[in-house]
Amino acid sequence: MDTIQAIRTRRTVRSYLPQPISKEVLETLLMAAFQTPSAFDERPWHFLVVDQPERLTNLADAMEHCDMLREAQAGFLICIDPSLEKVPGFAIQDCSACGENVLLAAHAMGIGACWIGLHPVEERERALHKVCCVPESLIPFALISLGYPNEDLPAIDRTDPTRVHWNEW
Ligand SMILES: Cc1cc2nc3c(=O)[nH]c(=O)nc-3n(C[C@H](O)[C@H](O)[C@H](O)COP(=O)(O)O)c2cc1C
Repeated sequence: MDTIQAIRTRRTVRSYLPQPISKEVLETLLMAAFQTPSAFDERPWHFLVVDQPERLTNLADAMEHCDMLREAQAGFLICIDPSLEKVPGFAIQDCSACGENVLLAAHAMGIGACWIGLHPVEERERALHKVCCVPESLIPFALISLGYPNEDLPAIDRTDPTRVHWNEW
């Protein structure tokens, strides 16, 4: 799948098959995350891959509306490390770009993914500190649940010409 096709057809997948995701695929997702551009090349992130079923269940128990984690084969956590942020305010943008890289890389490899927003929802951030022992100095930013899709969602064309402006508003 080429990049444009991946962008055009990616959807959020919340139902997964009980088919494990190989270490190789998870390593490729890590590569995609590390390749993300960041302001001043600050790379203000840490990643935590969760592939233990019990831990995924514990996360689902600790966070409301996160039942997709019960079927997920893995979770990909992106944390902000504020100590690595050179310009205040950019780390969130860096880590957001990271999340999109992971979503697109997963989709390109046939893996379904759901971005589970953590920051700034305190209850969710706490769950990651508790269940995955994320250090207090880091901000759990986004958790991406992963699994081979158990649903086939159509691409949606969201292009909106009323939001497009050329040269002048
Ligand atoms: C910052 C962010 C936070 C999100 N948080 C959640 C979430 O907590 N739970 C969830 O089911 N989906 C979450 N999503 C997925 C969105 O609901 C989804 O991307 C949106 O409905 C558009 O659907 P699509 O991804 O299939 O195009 C989140 C997406 C983003 C970008």
